[in-house]
Amino acid sequence: MRVLVTGAGGYVGTALQRVLVAAGHTVRALSRRGLAVPGSRGVAADLLTADLRALVADVDAVIHLVGIIREVPAAGITFRRLHVDATRRLLAALADHSGPYVHLSALGTGPRGGSRYFETKWEAEEWVRRERPSATIVRPSLVFGGGAEFFAALKRLAKNPVVPIPGDGSAPFDPVYREDLARALTGMLDDPEARGQTFEIGGPKRLTLDQLVDLAARSIGRPVPVPKLHLPLGALAGLVRLGERLPGFPLTRDQLAMLQIPNITEDRRWHRWVPDPTPPGVDL
Ligand SMILES: NC(=O)c1ccc[n+]([C@@H]2O[C@H](COP(=O)([O-])OP(=O)(O)OC[C@H]3O[C@@H](n4cnc5c(N)ncnc54)[C@H](OP(=O)(O)O)[C@@H]3O)[C@@H](O)[C@H]2O)c1
Repeated sequence: MRVLVTGAGGYVGTALQRVLVAAGHTVRALSRRGLAVPGSRGVAADLLTADLRALVADVDAVIHLVGIIREVPAAGITFRRLHVDATRRLLAALADHSGPYVHLSALGTGPRGGSRYFETKWEAEEWVRRERPSATIVRPSLVFGGGAEFFAALKRLAKNPVVPIPGDGSAPFDPVYREDLARALTGMLDDPEARGQTFEIGGPKRLTLDQLVDLAARSIGRPVPVPKLHLPLGALAGLVRLGERLPGFPLTRDQLAMLQIPNITEDRRWHRWVPDPTPPGVDL
């Protein structure tokens, strides 16, 4: 198949490009910088401004990955623009296109998701359900493997003699391996069973935030469990509100909220494409 992948130059997209190419697909890799892996073709385009009709005219399928975890309002980068407006532009461009469309959302998404990230992801899903009932919607939990930004941050945090943790560290997650997610997305593309379905995707090992910190500590060679200091959310929220405007500040209020919300699923239907999902280990 000729497949257009949006957000293809990012963390998930790079692995997805590799898996698609290995499976014999022809990949058009769209991002603002147009980064491509060997065997796929990069296209530098902004989803918010480009002529998307021209870009989808000759492809058989689309996988839409573009999403952000942090807003930069001064640069016009907001959850609403990147999650909702970009999705609507793409759906409009695909109005006369009947091929498979796979939409990357996130586990935890819902009308009152508790964070702007989750809420705008939900709004984008609602547009997809309305405009393209045959779409496949995919909601992964935290993704790990090959140097995920979140786990890189945990590793930095885990170097502290006593590791500060926002909240009580009890929220559970089902981390999913990046390669497994890429294999599932690739398998869904030409599988009629995936049409019109929403899949939640979680890995085989459930871990709390505290346990994720220990996992990160172990991966940098530290004995576990590491000493932890659980920071009360009330006090932290004020600090984050002030700090999040500074470039390089490690946490936003939205991320702080998301670290307290359980991010788990019992949906195992995706094992159809990945029967042997990888548990988190040393390669974070
Ligand atoms: N990583 C996770 O743990 C995780 C978990 C659940 C769900 N997800 C979802 O999975 C998707 C991919 O996440 P990711 O971690 O791979 O994100 P990422 O590493 O930040 O990649 C985002 C990609 O989007 C591109 N992009 C950003 N703005 C764009 C624009 N206006 N027009 C065109 N391209 C644009 C970026 O490249 P340029 O900067 O070159 O444009 C990059 O290629 C997102 O929808 C995310 O919400 C991720």
